[in-house]
Amino acid sequence: MERDYLSVDDLSVEELAMLLDLSAEVKAKPEDHATALAGRQVALIFEKPSTRTRVSFEVAVASTGGHPIPLSSSELQLGRGETIEDTGRVLSRYVDAIVLRTFEQERLELLARAATVPVINALSDFEHPCQALADLLTIREIKGGLAGRTLTYLGDGNNVTHSLLLAGAKAGVHVRVATPPGFEPIPQVVQRATEIAEGTGGSVRLTHDPIEASRDADVLYTDVWASMGQEAEAEERALVFPAYALDAEKVAVARPDVTVLHCLPAHRGQEITDEVIDGPHSAVWDQAENRLHTQKALLLFLLGAV
Ligand code: CP
Ligand code: NVA
Repeated sequence: MERDYLSVDDLSVEELAMLLDLSAEVKAKPEDHATALAGRQVALIFEKPSTRTRVSFEVAVASTGGHPIPLSSSELQLGRGETIEDTGRVLSRYVDAIVLRTFEQERLELLARAATVPVINALSDFEHPCQALADLLTIREIKGGLAGRTLTYLGDGNNVTHSLLLAGAKAGVHVRVATPPGFEPIPQVVQRATEIAEGTGGSVRLTHDPIEASRDADVLYTDVWASMGQEAEAEERALVFPAYALDAEKVAVARPDVTVLHCLPAHRGQEITDEVIDGPHSAVWDQAENRLHTQKALLLFLLGAV
């Protein structure tokens, strides 16, 4: 059975640690993996916009010797009603892996069931598991490790939060999430992350108090207040979230060596201030770069090229 990566929870604690090691190795010596995916074709389907994920996957495949095939759903028969399952059955006859960015997590599950090649979640409404790999690698590089570090997420309990909760828990991180009431991450994910953390020495804490959550944090992380697909709610959300913005006040109560992360794209002046994203604590550009290295490692792992 081929392996898929639809959720961070598709990786065991050990596999996640191994993938981060492999990512660091691939980053340090890209030339050692320049032909690892020779002869492999990877379809990249985007049903939502993307800058980082699309380009980093395309470069990851090409720079390991493979052939990336970027596809927008509007150019495929998918956009004219062909089912995701039939698309998966057909693409499996041509390519060695399928990467999909979409809306409902169910679409990824349907695709993975029908496809006979690995399927990778390039972001859904529910999770952003590729992002979480880059986030952990970035923290590990800067802090020298993951277990026992405190990561505070401020803002909307969304796809990025879900993947961070699961990945942080698997890595033994203390994950704090501060959201406005009504915007918490979904309870099943919180429960699963808590269960995982019990076995790794990490922890999970939810709060509505952004200052309290930021106190002594090793890492402060935020994401947009309205995700792709929630554009109609953006104005309403902008009234609820300002207290959760990653600004100088939060940085001031965190550890003096706090690292600031944002998955990007950022809405400067909303969830993060210019001063913080461009300031000395920010590692967002390294974080964006790490998408490339972690996705290379993920592809090598899923395609058995390690
Ligand atoms: N962080 C991230 O996934 O960015 P894109 O939407 O640009 O791919
Ligand atoms: N939560 C954001 C992440 C973008 C990378 C969204 O889904 O739009």
